[in-house]
Amino acid sequence: MAAGGAVFCGWDGAEPEPSYALDGACPEADERAQLEPDTDGGWRVVSERVTVAVSRMGTVEVRTPGGVVLRRDLPPRWWEPAETVIDRACEGRGAGGTGARWHQRSEVGADARFFGLGGRAGGPRLKDGSYRLWNTDPGGGFGPGDDPLYLTMPVQLVVADAGTHLVFHDNSWDGTVTLREGEEGAGSGHDRPGGVRMRMEGGPLRYWVFVGTPARVLHGWAALTGSPAVPPGWALGHHHARWGFGDANEVRRVVAGYRERNLPLSALHLDIDHLAGHRVFTVDAARFPDLPGLAAELRADGVRLVSIVDPAVKAEPGNAVYDSGAAAEGFVTDARGREVRGVLWAGESVFPDFTDPRVRKWWGGLYAERLEQGFSGVWHDRCEPVSFAAFGEPTLPRSARHALEGRGGDHREAHNVYGLAMARAGYEGLGELRPDERPFVFSRSGWAGLQRYGGSRSGDVTTGWPGLRASLALVIGLGLSGVPYSGPDIGGFTGSPSPELYLRWFQLGAYLPLFRTHSAITAGRREPWEFGSGVLEDAAAALRERQRLLPYFMTLARLAERTGAPYVRPVWWRQPKDRALRDCEDAFLLGDALLVAPVLEEGAVRRAVRLPRGRWYDTATGRAYEGPGQVVVDAPLSRIPVLARAGAVIPVASPDGGVELEVWPPCEGRKGGGSLAVDAGDGWDKAELVRFVSRLRGDEVRVEREGGVEAGYPVRVRGAAPRSEQRG
Ligand code: NOJ
Repeated sequence: MAAGGAVFCGWDGAEPEPSYALDGACPEADERAQLEPDTDGGWRVVSERVTVAVSRMGTVEVRTPGGVVLRRDLPPRWWEPAETVIDRACEGRGAGGTGARWHQRSEVGADARFFGLGGRAGGPRLKDGSYRLWNTDPGGGFGPGDDPLYLTMPVQLVVADAGTHLVFHDNSWDGTVTLREGEEGAGSGHDRPGGVRMRMEGGPLRYWVFVGTPARVLHGWAALTGSPAVPPGWALGHHHARWGFGDANEVRRVVAGYRERNLPLSALHLDIDHLAGHRVFTVDAARFPDLPGLAAELRADGVRLVSIVDPAVKAEPGNAVYDSGAAAEGFVTDARGREVRGVLWAGESVFPDFTDPRVRKWWGGLYAERLEQGFSGVWHDRCEPVSFAAFGEPTLPRSARHALEGRGGDHREAHNVYGLAMARAGYEGLGELRPDERPFVFSRSGWAGLQRYGGSRSGDVTTGWPGLRASLALVIGLGLSGVPYSGPDIGGFTGSPSPELYLRWFQLGAYLPLFRTHSAITAGRREPWEFGSGVLEDAAAALRERQRLLPYFMTLARLAERTGAPYVRPVWWRQPKDRALRDCEDAFLLGDALLVAPVLEEGAVRRAVRLPRGRWYDTATGRAYEGPGQVVVDAPLSRIPVLARAGAVIPVASPDGGVELEVWPPCEGRKGGGSLAVDAGDGWDKAELVRFVSRLRGDEVRVEREGGVEAGYPVRVRGAAPRSEQRG
């Protein structure tokens, strides 16, 4: 048992380290929590929040302090394919290291629901089925039925009436998690527990368990795997991307389009078409004759440039990146030491071995070129990694060798951490090259702990209504897996959305951490003015609302840094026992204050919203509704429903460019509140977090700082007076 209440369980000699997931050193053991003999001949360890009982047969039970079993892990089984036995004999590795396959079955409450496992298009609630743990580019667009995708991780968040727990199997090998929800016997006493079967192709059987409220388990998870990086302020604004801008003039045209229409734009992303022959760390000088000049021009307009970075390096002597990497012996090799060659956009390519600290250092240094070109941040792509070559799968061969921090191993173990290690290289490189600014890195692929280096994105989601739904599932699921900053390609990656679909996607995106339009080179336009004047007007309103909410977004980023709580939370976040909320997948909480109910269906202009307990105000009409329960609210094309929790104090941008506090009246006799992370710039300063309390004094809504000091910011009361409250 570790300090902070995390439980570590290792089989067959597996230790907590080495690990790609952990943030630095393994947490200290809690000396007070000792394994002691149990009455039934087994053992148990008791701490404040959890009791773990181990039977003589090797069954491990995780129980609440009140004794309710949250999870029962049955004894695992190992089996060894012949080639592994030979491997081990050659390499002198013991069981519990790599090589042997294993599987383990577990039981959870009959009412339990599963979440997590990284970014899953069919989520956020993970239905019965098998989920592979192998980062995969589905190739082309994906929809809700496609699995696995780019960012998988063995993190199960299990929510049941008896409590929430998170289990993380610290094992990066290929594997499958099969989930089956339980069934309650309607009081007959014949409940069928929920089941989890985990089958891994190798690697240690070791796992961490966190027990508590959802907020507590995510806090524990962040304490183990690292605080989420705080994006620079500008990265919380609107980003416009496209594969195939073509040239500098087209970039200027798009940016001017935003400016002429008075639409806020924070960043513009250049995809692989700006590179010379698709070679990483180059620029096509014919299309972008003066990229630093263009970057400076845009910067003067408040627009940053973000660059795609793919890991594949064209294997061509004379290509400086290839030459320096080859000289450093930095590329993934086969068992005979020859570079493994794959194929990507630039042609025959090699792959940096990011599991080697020397290679990370070399690669991180290459970002100097991106900074010189004027880029402010990077977008890591195809780092599952992808190779178009027919190795059976569109990735590296399983036999490819990796340094794995000096331990040595092959792609079976390194594959899932490849994107994570690349993110580390980029983050650390940018941090060294530009020490005054927090790096902005977001990565299509990754693994447990990615949040230390940056965020993610939902990948090539197919244009269509199902894709819109899938993109929300991914953002919620990634947040519950510890990666709080992500967002979809607004409009979908692949095609031409109808004006209505584009608008609904845009309206959703305005409330997600990464607010970015993007599309394939073959896809239609994504500028808000390309869909008619009605859409332009409504998209402009969404953009303005995002700008207004920026202080709140930065506060959520700082709160995520401190507590691991995602910005985007499932509606059951504070009430995990509310079963109807557990099953609600079409709405989310943005922080504590707002409930966002996007329109995910074509033609809908009203929608049902499931409310958590308490009073909620429709922010557009001010009308108050009482939860828990379901209400039907208007969702005209001009906006999606957003409800504010009674008592919420939300920091927003004031018309004069400062910050003001928007407050929604608390219920009679109750307090409300909120926080503000005081802007600390884009460097490394910690932000001061100011907490506010709201109260009703008679009919008047009062806001002060915690401790009774004046708020210190202008306060604007919104919503109907409590007397005029209406029931939904
Ligand atoms: C795949 C990425 O997911 C997509 O966003 C990008 O546009 C293309 N690669 C081309 O770089």
